[in-house]
Amino acid sequence: MDSRRDPDLCLALAARFHTEHPDTVVLLITDQPEALGLRAMRAGVTDLLAPGADLQEVNRALAEAKQQAEALAARHASTESQGPTGRVITVVASKGGVGKTTVMTNLAVALAQAVPNSTVIVDLDLQFGDVATALNLSPEHFLPDALQSVASGDTIALKTRLTLHESGLYVLPAPADPAAADGITSAQISQLLQVLTQEFPFVVVDTSPGLADHTLGALDHTTDPLLLTTLSVPALSGLRKIVDTLSVLQMFTERYHVVVNHADAADGVTLSDVEQTLGVLVGTAIPRSKGAPASINVGVPLMQSQTRDPLVRALASLANRLLPAGVQLDRRGRLRTKGKKS
Ligand SMILES: Nc1ncnc2c1ncn2[C@@H]1O[C@H](COP(=O)(O)OP(=O)(O)OP(=O)(O)O)[C@@H](O)[C@H]1O
Ligand SMILES: [Mg+2]
Repeated sequence: MDSRRDPDLCLALAARFHTEHPDTVVLLITDQPEALGLRAMRAGVTDLLAPGADLQEVNRALAEAKQQAEALAARHASTESQGPTGRVITVVASKGGVGKTTVMTNLAVALAQAVPNSTVIVDLDLQFGDVATALNLSPEHFLPDALQSVASGDTIALKTRLTLHESGLYVLPAPADPAAADGITSAQISQLLQVLTQEFPFVVVDTSPGLADHTLGALDHTTDPLLLTTLSVPALSGLRKIVDTLSVLQMFTERYHVVVNHADAADGVTLSDVEQTLGVLVGTAIPRSKGAPASINVGVPLMQSQTRDPLVRALASLANRLLPAGVQLDRRGRLRTKGKKS
């Protein structure tokens, strides 16, 4: 950049390049190197050139700039490859009580049991979240504590603020006080998930009914959105509205995984009605499970007990779609050993 006419503007621009396009190298042409030197350095300018510099000087400056650009690009590539890799699986449902917490806690336990230290569940039902109860935990730390660590950039502290479940699942419970939900922004949630994906291959997110702001913040980072419904007209038509809203926001047109809970209920709505209404094939159908209500009451997910149960079977198969090909679960949620069929 030739800064002779407006050095302030050029330095401001250089500073923006430095933060927003860190791979860019800026050479500044100036006739007042002493006056601008320190400010130029602070703005991330690589080198100063005199307007009358000869070809040799220009070549030298360009060669150094090229070297620096390559080093920056290499550093950038290596931090990107360590960057977000985890899958974020978020449930979306229009109504309460359709089985979000049941599905997400069982799915999270399945993933955690399949791959040690792989999974964290985040309870984004900020007011009435009951993930901790469903897992029979009495946590010491809650979502607001974790948000504090994220804000201060302290990833180690963040990990110590997760509660470990005996299945190996890490848990981030909803705030203990429902009023605390008001102080949490969707940007904070978004940032939290971004950090968690760098630490965990699977981030499982339970939500409140509908499209709360916090859920939208989570959907921003979601790789695997689960649309959950029962075979009821209100739940299904509500979900259709959610899908419409998300398509207006240009979020996920092709990545939905539709899960139907209580899928064996013969109440007049069929699986093909679900597919027609949502325009997506049903990926997982969970029949009614006799053990599910008791399991949530005692706080031991069926997946943890590895019992023979239709819910366990359906969710083990959903977990298998997320797990690597070499690590698969059998129909009771146990790790499948090579060559042995369940
Ligand atoms: N497939 C199933 N078979 C039998 N009972 C089920 C099944 N799925 C969920 N339930 C039961 O339905 C009730 C509601 O489930 P859950 O709490 O998971 O719903 P939710 O969508 O998280 O509700 P909320 O919106 O209140 O958070 C629980 O008692 C649970 O045990
Ligand atoms: Mg719930």
